[in-house]
Amino acid sequence: MLPARSFASTLVALLCACGDASLNGTTGGGGHAAGGAGGGGGLPSQPEGWDAGLRMDPAVDRNDDPHVLEIDLVARITDLEIAPGTTTPAWTYDGRIPGPMLELTAGDRLIVHFRNELPEETTIHWHGLRIGAEMDGAPHEGQPAVPPGGTFEYSFIVPDAGLYWYHPHVDSAAQVGFGLYGAILVHPGPGSPVEPEGLGDELTLLISDMGVLPDGSLRDPDAGGNLGTLFGREGDVILVNGRRKPEIVARAGLRQRWRIVNAAKSRYLQLDLPGHRFTRIGGDGGLLPGPLEEERLVLTPGQRVDALVTLEGEPGSVLPLRWIPIDRGYGTFEFREAEEVLTVRFDEAPRAEAPPLPTISRVIEAPDPEGATPIAIALTQSTEPGEVVLGIDGVPSWEAEPILARVDERQLWTVTNEMDWDHPFHLHGFFFHEVGEDGALVEPRELRDTFNVPQHETRRFLVRYEHRPGMWMFHCHILDHAEAGMMGMIHLER
Ligand code: C2O
Ligand code: CU
Repeated sequence: MLPARSFASTLVALLCACGDASLNGTTGGGGHAAGGAGGGGGLPSQPEGWDAGLRMDPAVDRNDDPHVLEIDLVARITDLEIAPGTTTPAWTYDGRIPGPMLELTAGDRLIVHFRNELPEETTIHWHGLRIGAEMDGAPHEGQPAVPPGGTFEYSFIVPDAGLYWYHPHVDSAAQVGFGLYGAILVHPGPGSPVEPEGLGDELTLLISDMGVLPDGSLRDPDAGGNLGTLFGREGDVILVNGRRKPEIVARAGLRQRWRIVNAAKSRYLQLDLPGHRFTRIGGDGGLLPGPLEEERLVLTPGQRVDALVTLEGEPGSVLPLRWIPIDRGYGTFEFREAEEVLTVRFDEAPRAEAPPLPTISRVIEAPDPEGATPIAIALTQSTEPGEVVLGIDGVPSWEAEPILARVDERQLWTVTNEMDWDHPFHLHGFFFHEVGEDGALVEPRELRDTFNVPQHETRRFLVRYEHRPGMWMFHCHILDHAEAGMMGMIHLER
């Protein structure tokens, strides 16, 4: 954070809790500095240190080139205090949960000198980024898994503005659940859709959960056997940027921009802020064509949202952001209670007035669904007694043949869920467009890499493969399901 900016914020806080429009100037650098207070310039802003309870450590850049973020990253077991007074042997990137926040501008290069100090092999998958298959972290396809003590150098350009995340792709239900995940925030660069200034003070929230026992030890990732696998194991504690029920401080009346990743291995997030509505402006693949009013934010594992909220409350009062149970299948919803995710505490200053919402508009080009190659798959569960095996068309990932595709081909996928549980379908490496039953693109358009296929329903999407040949994965992002076989490959040929 720039000292000048904090000084300006303090000054504004002292002089201008009234939100006096006469002091409003340009918004300076916008909300781009992670953890920066305020929009800079003369706009009324959040209290000093408002997001201290949530701030993520940025990565340490060892490259002078402003268009390269070059970091060292180590995966290792680290004792962390997840539940107060206990120690959890968490699996971490660089000793923390989440791993370092990676902030870049679209068009920049990310170089990661990765070292695996875990007792198991691992990889890093860059969820949502349109990069080369050899960098995608799909084990045994793009790259071999990194053995314990091994290293790998990831290097690629981040092409699109938006919020993404990184996580392992080996034994993923266990490894992600034990704490291996981090955020990648890509700011707009030349050629990116225009993101207006003045959207609000920005927070990046990686929401996850973790299976920890009362003594702090990690819950067995196979707990509950087959039933646990079918339900998808949710963690005992919800974590926001690695903290339990953290607090942010807000100035009443001002707008905040919350950019959220659902990094949980199985839990769907349905987020409710009593008395408030959200204005959703983006999803997996950056901005939407325009703002959408939403009562609650719903994210399947893997998904992201970008939402604005104007926080209203009495000075000194508190407001909880709550997780509300959602029906994603038998046993996932019944008899469960809402949980507090984080607390918003209003500071004592009188209410300020948010500047008007700037115009947000983006034209999302899409290929024509007409004439696209039809691909139909079913998400299935084996019926044999014994171990639960999930799959695509009855075939688990370890026996599956890849689906073939050619560069530039358009494919229209029909995904039918034959099970009693929802599945968040995720495609690596490419954004897709949802298509309705009528064969037309769903409007408003939204670039996605993950979408929900509800129990016993069918969903469709259209994808056009750009020139990035190789092997690409698709799978259910309930990681217990993926590991139980609900995963497949696309072989994209030139
Ligand atoms: Cu975030 Cu293959 O997944
Ligand atoms: Cu699933």
